[in-house]
Amino acid sequence: MRGIVERLDFDGMGVVRVGKREILVPFTTPGDVVEVRKWRRKKRKLIAVDFEVVKPSPKRTEPRCPYFGTCGGCLLQHLPYEAQVEFKAGKLSALLGIDVEVVPSPVIYGHRNRIDVVISTKGIGFRRRGTWWDAVDIEECPVFGKTSRRVLRSLREFIDDHRPSLYEIGKNEGFLRYIVMREGKFTGELMVNLVTSEGSLSEDFPSYFDYADSIYWSVNRTQSDVSYGEIERFWKSEFIRERLDDVVYLIHPNSFFQTNSYQAVALVREVSKLVDGERVLDLYSGVGTFGIYLAKRGFFVEGIEVNPFAVEMANRNAELNGVGAVFKVGEDRDVESLAEYDTVVLDPPRVGLHPKLVRKILKDEPRSIVYVSCNPKTLADNLRALSEKYSLEEAVGIDMFPHTPHVETVVKLKLKV
Ligand SMILES: C[S@@+](CC[C@H](N)C(=O)[O-])C[C@H]1O[C@@H](n2cnc3c(N)ncnc32)[C@H](O)[C@@H]1O
Repeated sequence: MRGIVERLDFDGMGVVRVGKREILVPFTTPGDVVEVRKWRRKKRKLIAVDFEVVKPSPKRTEPRCPYFGTCGGCLLQHLPYEAQVEFKAGKLSALLGIDVEVVPSPVIYGHRNRIDVVISTKGIGFRRRGTWWDAVDIEECPVFGKTSRRVLRSLREFIDDHRPSLYEIGKNEGFLRYIVMREGKFTGELMVNLVTSEGSLSEDFPSYFDYADSIYWSVNRTQSDVSYGEIERFWKSEFIRERLDDVVYLIHPNSFFQTNSYQAVALVREVSKLVDGERVLDLYSGVGTFGIYLAKRGFFVEGIEVNPFAVEMANRNAELNGVGAVFKVGEDRDVESLAEYDTVVLDPPRVGLHPKLVRKILKDEPRSIVYVSCNPKTLADNLRALSEKYSLEEAVGIDMFPHTPHVETVVKLKLKV
């Protein structure tokens, strides 16, 4: 059946109305005329799986990546970047019920500081869109940048020379499973982490990546399809570094870091602009991204985070930057007192704040809250609950994730008087 894409839904899928039904078509844009031949039902939504754009909308642009349309990584490269930003501002404004502007990323190719490349019998690249069992073979990922071509070429040379087995998705067989690349965009440092099943790795593996600053071999002994494992060995540096303004952060294969360094700078600057008073709690502090940046600006910072390794990294980062911020292991729901802080910075995972934490905030009444969110839907729910005692002073979107429908939001809340 044939139809015109009316709009994009919040997940960046083109919406085509056919009779009473709405079919979601990936990689399309308003104005495209599409022929949908087959669709499948997923969580009460109809998603086109066999379709063709028979008349493209004039609003399209040429995607930079040759794998766009099959690779599961990017969904919106066919939209001019201004239209992507407009789409995200519209999404935030609709979900939060106020006008929200989105700060565009200054770099829209080569901005990602990390990619996790699948190594499989189906190909070396990314999951094919809509599948967990298939992969698109790639030579370069333009969203990470030129270095990805070099690393993938070295990996293929290693494979040609040594013929290790590649992972067979679904069967849990094969040795090489992932190669993860991380790059400090402001330091130029490169980390390569090879993730394998149990087995032995040729001694000369690191010689293929002699241009990298840090080379790791990790082993995933489980059937889970994850791109990390227990560290078996590393060569050269234990960490690479990234710099946001005057703060340097250590990056380890098993620690999280904001994935777009150029916008991570915008994010930490925005948070530090919104923080009031002197005493700050950095809750969900990870490796201390916000806390250390704030401590460097003279705030007295404590951080709480559930992952002990992230806490260890945060304390190391504090030491490296010569600041006195202290990070502790703890859960959001168990925070003892929020009343002693002038500002609480919250950066929860996609599920948002634990209901117990929401109740605790409403009871302890810290004066200011700076809420950083990667999921505007849970942000909107949490804001509704907090509105009993807090008014929204400022909200801004930061586009951390060009070519995807995702957007980061920073919100400042003030205790009502
Ligand atoms: C979106 S990340 C933010 C990390 C950090 N603020 C940064 O920018 O790098 C969310 C963090 O919350 C932590 N986390 C998840 N559940 C938690 C919980 N119940 N209590 C405390 N921290 C939690 C995760 O380990 C993760 O580090």
